[in-house]
Amino acid sequence: MKKAVCPGSFDPVTNGHLDIVERAASLFDEVIVAVGVNKSKNRLFSPEERIGMLEQATAALPNVSVAGFTGLLTTFCQQQEATAIVKGLRAVSDYEYELQMAQMNASLTRIETVFVPTSPEWSFLASSLVKEVAAFGGDVSGLVPEFVLGPLLEKLAARPVE
Ligand code: PNS
Repeated sequence: MKKAVCPGSFDPVTNGHLDIVERAASLFDEVIVAVGVNKSKNRLFSPEERIGMLEQATAALPNVSVAGFTGLLTTFCQQQEATAIVKGLRAVSDYEYELQMAQMNASLTRIETVFVPTSPEWSFLASSLVKEVAAFGGDVSGLVPEFVLGPLLEKLAARPVE
């Protein structure tokens, strides 16, 4: 049984993330969407909120589960007995950083990283841009699952992006 971990900050989940998760679910027997901590990013949603949104977004995918993790991604993968990490690549600009992380993770536990090219319709999409556009009143419906829109606007109203 081939088990993969699909890690990210998911702050919040976007349709681009879901594109990668759905395609990972078609490649592996089991996929764990792992909500982690990226120390270089400020978060709008708590880990529990991000996990809840991902659970709702992936409810129709029977071989996908969602979990939070702290610490190293490779430790989480070992605990879950996952043999691969799946990451989406939007553009060449993603590649350098993702390659570095893939090689670091492989050096720690020999885990493989599988890169899935983002579908062209989502290649410009990033959670950070969704938050920025929404904070300035732009329309982000169609970029995130519909049920994310309400909580996103509520959070931004309470804590506007500076
Ligand atoms: O969505 P992001 O922000 O690109 O996700 C990055 C994340 C959370 C997957 C990455 O920062 C991560 O793996 N963090 C866990 C800590 C870790 O293992 N760091 C070493 C990476 S080589």
